[in-house]
Amino acid sequence: MSKIILGVSSSVSIYKSCEIIRSFQEKGYDVQVLMTKNASKFISPLLFKALTGNKVLMDLFNDGVSEDILHVTLAGEAVLFVIAPATANVIGKMASGISDDFLTTFYTAATCPVLVAPAMNEKMFLKGKTQDNIRKLQAAGVRFIEPEKGYLACGDHGYGRLAPVSGIVEEGVLLIRKSRSLKGMTVLVTGGPTREYLDSVRFLTNRSSGKMGFELAGESERRGAKTIFISGPGNLISNPGIKSVAVETAKEMKEQVEKYAGGSDIIIMAAAVCDFKFPKQISGKIKKDSMPLEVKLSRTEDILSEIGKNKGTKVVVGFAAEAKNTEENARKKLVKKNLDIIVANNISKKGIGFESDRNDVTIIHRDGKTIRTGEKSKLEISKIIMDEVEAVIGRKNR
Ligand SMILES: Cc1cc2nc3c(=O)[nH]c(=O)nc-3n(C[C@H](O)[C@H](O)[C@H](O)COP(=O)(O)O)c2cc1C
Repeated sequence: MSKIILGVSSSVSIYKSCEIIRSFQEKGYDVQVLMTKNASKFISPLLFKALTGNKVLMDLFNDGVSEDILHVTLAGEAVLFVIAPATANVIGKMASGISDDFLTTFYTAATCPVLVAPAMNEKMFLKGKTQDNIRKLQAAGVRFIEPEKGYLACGDHGYGRLAPVSGIVEEGVLLIRKSRSLKGMTVLVTGGPTREYLDSVRFLTNRSSGKMGFELAGESERRGAKTIFISGPGNLISNPGIKSVAVETAKEMKEQVEKYAGGSDIIIMAAAVCDFKFPKQISGKIKKDSMPLEVKLSRTEDILSEIGKNKGTKVVVGFAAEAKNTEENARKKLVKKNLDIIVANNISKKGIGFESDRNDVTIIHRDGKTIRTGEKSKLEISKIIMDEVEAVIGRKNR
């Protein structure tokens, strides 16, 4: 039976956790409760043990140490971690990496999808710090289910009531389904800029941060695919479940893409490959006075065209960064390079795209279907792109 870990913290709405347990059990899941010490002042762990048939885990140093280190072994077994209700305190600890009890230590070790259902007084929920913490966790891939407006335990009427149990359970089941939707598939993602060296210290590159490819690789891995991420220079560290391959030049990128493309079902080329290179790279540093001021550049290899030409049954996604006529130019590129989907972004918009965590893209399918995402985080955009990739797979398998 698949195991869901339910974290409960000390909010009055904790009584609804019992219903959450029952609903997940009705859907066939085994539920294991992790509780904060403060939560046990509201409800005895005995009630959760009676409902789940599993010992409630609360104290890392008494409950969590046996022949196995439980927070780590459990992390390998869980299909979903739900924290409902989540206090402002627990959300803050998770966002800061504090792991000082079973629940928060488990979060740090967890690799499964995570769903958080906050419950608190409206003033606590709307506090800048709480909202910052929520944004930080969302950026790390944690899914939040918004609290509702209504009567609060403190006597106020406002925003902060735990989301309805049915909504939490449905969202949880959806997350589990999504986490398996690409199981058995191999996804190759490229990201970041490439560099073309003039000599050992000077190079030609572009402003790509690699964040879009990074998020796409993360989303692919969260959906259960074996994921390979080939990326140019950057500071982003992928999670250990992703096979990361570091490259610098377009030639190296091409070699690695060719190495992994054959075994891939889906290829997403989000890298901003430098289009031009110097005639040859000179080793050492060219002296200022001996450098001619005019250098003839040549084109780098067109990796996407090669992949498109030989794509067979693979789903291939390309990117187009355009300064004007974005959608029209992207459509031409989609046809020319034989792609299934092209993701176009207008680089003239300020504050999004290059070097930013946010973007605003148009996703164009081969059959003309077009989705305009509006401005969103690159994480949210990666989810929309992967949904569209799954739609193509669905059409091909029909
Ligand atoms: C009666 C009572 C109700 C509370 N309800 C909430 C709540 O709904 N949400 C919340 O974030 N904190 C609530 N708190 C405050 C938390 O219990 C407190 O911040 C605690 O330190 C959190 O501990 P925990 O996150 O380890 O469970 C409540 C406290 C009391 C005494």
